[in-house]
Parts: sequence; structure tokens; C-alpha cells
Amino acid sequence: MKTFRLSNGVEIPAVGYGSYLSTEGNGRQTIKDALDSGYRYIDTAMFYRNEAEIGEALREYGIPRNELFLVSKVWHTMLGREKTLQSFEGSVKALGTDYLDMFLIHWPMGPDKDTDWLSLQTETWQVMEELYEAGKVRAIGLSNFLPHHIEPLLKNVKITPMLDQLELHAGYMQEYALAYLRSKGIVIQAWSPLGRARMLKDERIAALASKYGKTPAQVLLRFLLDRDIAVIPKASSIERMKQNLDVFDFHLTGEEISYLSCIPESGWSGEHPDMM
Ligand SMILES: NC(=O)c1ccc[n+]([C@@H]2O[C@H](COP(=O)([O-])OP(=O)(O)OC[C@H]3O[C@@H](n4cnc5c(N)ncnc54)[C@H](OP(=O)(O)O)[C@@H]3O)[C@@H](O)[C@H]2O)c1
Repeated sequence: MKTFRLSNGVEIPAVGYGSYLSTEGNGRQTIKDALDSGYRYIDTAMFYRNEAEIGEALREYGIPRNELFLVSKVWHTMLGREKTLQSFEGSVKALGTDYLDMFLIHWPMGPDKDTDWLSLQTETWQVMEELYEAGKVRAIGLSNFLPHHIEPLLKNVKITPMLDQLELHAGYMQEYALAYLRSKGIVIQAWSPLGRARMLKDERIAALASKYGKTPAQVLLRFLLDRDIAVIPKASSIERMKQNLDVFDFHLTGEEISYLSCIPESGWSGEHPDMM
């Protein structure tokens, strides 16, 4: 599979498995299905409350640890030195491992609007750096951080974040943030790459799907990959999981990429880091 290379040389699969709400109903089997389908990158977070279920699924499946790329995130109520370490320890323990492939700060703001968020985030990032330097995580990054969150952080830290995970899909491309992240060498990854299914019925996407003999989900994922953005779609059935990996045998044209990059805002989740 195509990979994206982080600034420290670590490579991540271009398509990972997004696990938010994925274990509800079908539990560990969903994760085993994702592995059967070919996923090796699993995106989770303390907030998803499924790390233990994922850990059990991985143990039962019996896959060698070094074949996996496990990513978790520290939630905004767990920022600061002690809580971030506690969050990290909780995640690795629940996942049944002793290191993470990548650890992300989930959201830029603290839960309390009166908090000095920059100090709290700087302290948190310094803990991430320590975990990285101690070999407990292979890569460190951010999620939902926009340029005005990252720029002040960079003034006080040693290591530039290696990846930023943002809501990105046709209809919500956050171009200003993309240009900034590229200028800093930060790999970009899309959460809700299908607009949490909201973009699947869009007639513009359907037209391209029929042109290429692909599904709307595949066109949406191909579009992001053609924009050099890694993706972590969530799907519940093996058929959809496989479909979302089967996106490497076609490309959109430059005109189609421009068209989908410029469609008016559609399918936005309503979640914005400055309004949380
Ligand atoms: N960092 C953050 O703050 C943040 C926020 C949100 C999400 N995330 C991460 O990003 C991942 C993906 O985002 P998401 O789950 O919000 O949305 P998404 O991946 O854009 O969309 C998931 C939805 O699309 C459906 N779907 C998936 N593949 C399909 C296909 N081939 N055909 C038709 N329908 C399909 C799924 O249905 P079924 O499940 O029924 O198959 C589900 O309803 C999450 O799981 C999570 O890991 C991160």
C-alpha cells in the first residue's frame, strides 16, 4: 500500500482504519474483520472507550505487534504532565502493548475556557517529546490543531509535530490549514474522510463514481489521496472495509481534483476546535 513518510522517517499506511464507534454492536469482531480486510493502521483514542476491546481483538487475532501501526490520542480533559502520562499508560495497557506507533493530542483547547491553553498544551507537548525520546512512541502529532494553535506552540517546543489529523473531505477542505501544514512538513490525515457518510449521496460524487466504475466512498477517498492526504475511514462490514482499501487503481484528473476541492461547504460535522 502507498505510505506517507513522517518527518522522522517513519512511514504510515495511506489508508488506516478509523475505530470511533466501530466496536459498538459487533465488538472485537469488527477489529478482526478490519485486520482480515488488510488494515494494519488502527486509529483510536482514550475518548473512544474501545482501546481495551481493540487490545483483546489484537491478542485473539495473534498478529505480530511490529506489523501494526497503533495510534491513540490524549483527550482534552487529560492535558498537562501527570494526566498525559496517565492517559498514555492507560492507552498502552488497554491496547495490550508497551509502545504506541503514534500518540496525538486530540483537540487544541482545554475544557475550561479560562485555562491558559497555550501553557497547558506546551506542557503536554513536552511530555509527548519525552515519550518519543524514551522510545515509548514512534511518532508524535496533533489532531484538530489549526495554524493559529500550532504557530505559538512551535515557539516553545523542540520537535515539530509530525502529523495533524483534521476533519477533511470534499466539501470541507480547510485549504488555509493544508497550506500551512505542508509548509511545516507536517503530514496531513483526514478524519471523517466520507463526511461521516454525509457526502456519499452527493450527486457530484455519484457522477464521478459512475465515470470510474467505483463507489462514492472510493471517489471521496481517492480524492483525498490525490491531494496527498492520508485517510482513516470507518466502516462496519468487511465489504465496505475492503472497498475503502481498494482505491489504488485509479486517479482523478487535475480538473476533477480542482472541482472537488472547490465545491461549496457540504457535510461539515459542526465540530470546530475554537467552538468546542
Ligand atoms: N481526531 C478527531 O477528532 C476525530 C473525529 C472524528 C473521527 N475521527 C477518526 O476518523 C475516523 C473516521 O471518521 P468517521 O467515523 O467520523 O467518518 P467517516 O469515516 O467519514 O464515515 C463513516 C461512515 O461512512 C459509512 N461508510 C464507510 N465506508 C462506506 C462505504 N464504502 N460505503 C458506504 N458507506 C460507508 C460508515 O457506515 P458503516 O459503519 O455502517 O459501515 C459510517 O456511517 C473515526 O472512526 C475516528 O477514528 C477522529
